Amino acid sequence: MTEQKVAVVTGASSGIGAATARRLAADGFDVVLTARRTERIEALAKEIGGRAWTLDVTDRAAVDAFAAGIGRVDVLINNAGGAFGAESVEQGDPADWRAMYEVNVLGVLHMTQALLPALRATGDGTVLILSSTAALASYEGGGGYIAAKAAAHSIAGTLRLELCGEPVRVIEIAPGMVKSEGFAVTRFRGDEAKAAAVYAGVAEPLTSEDVADTVSWAVTRPPHVNIDLLVVRPRAQAANHKVHRG
Ligand SMILES: NC(=O)c1ccc[n+]([C@@H]2O[C@H](COP(=O)([O-])OP(=O)(O)OC[C@H]3O[C@@H](n4cnc5c(N)ncnc54)[C@H](OP(=O)(O)O)[C@@H]3O)[C@@H](O)[C@H]2O)c1
Repeated sequence: MTEQKVAVVTGASSGIGAATARRLAADGFDVVLTARRTERIEALAKEIGGRAWTLDVTDRAAVDAFAAGIGRVDVLINNAGGAFGAESVEQGDPADWRAMYEVNVLGVLHMTQALLPALRATGDGTVLILSSTAALASYEGGGGYIAAKAAAHSIAGTLRLELCGEPVRVIEIAPGMVKSEGFAVTRFRGDEAKAAAVYAGVAEPLTSEDVADTVSWAVTRPPHVNIDLLVVRPRAQAANHKVHRG
């Protein structure tokens, strides 16, 4: 009997990460749920038969301790991230830009560096990075987030080149508008009205489950198949700027 494959999901306490943890467990993975909010990941881990490990991906020492203690890892889903603020480049707070870089870029770097030895050791490892369509096209008020996700996109492209010939594939999934639990609320610092306006009139934004579905599909292809970059948007969003609102 083949051993159960292990998938580590960062940011599994909410939104896309939680939906992905749930979906990968249903796919048969032993899922390790990580995030800062312990209660949430413990509750979900219990529900899906996974394991919870409280982890801030910006804390390198904590990430190294996680890597030293986790054992086998077949799949790493770098999902933890988000946008802080929607100010123009002129008005943006450098502290927000730094924080976005820390979680969306250095978080991915820390997890990937720390887990690559384990991923390689399985003989068929997968690194998946949740970037964004923000990485591929600019929009006003997105500066710091766009810069951070463009850097995450660069990590995926560079790492794929560097690992060519090794048994680790690198997948990037770039979602457009997803009505997830926390993304817009975090961006607008808890302002529910501003967060709701992001999705106003859009009949069917993507759900976290829609993105989890694409993640599941990408990581369950045969090991020699590398989905380099998958862009997924709602039908109502033909481009970052082109959103149909009824
Ligand atoms: N929603 C969208 O429209 C959209 C579109 C494209 C890409 N994305 C990307 O998809 C990913 C998931 O976002 P979401 O929409 O599901 O938002 P969400 O509901 O706000 O979830 C964000 C997750 O990231 C975790 N997180 C944040 N900072 C962290 C840190 N320092 N260490 C560990 N975990 C951390 C949060 O957990 P804790 O707070 O418990 O740590 C939470 O589980 C993000 O990378 C986001 O940029 C979202």
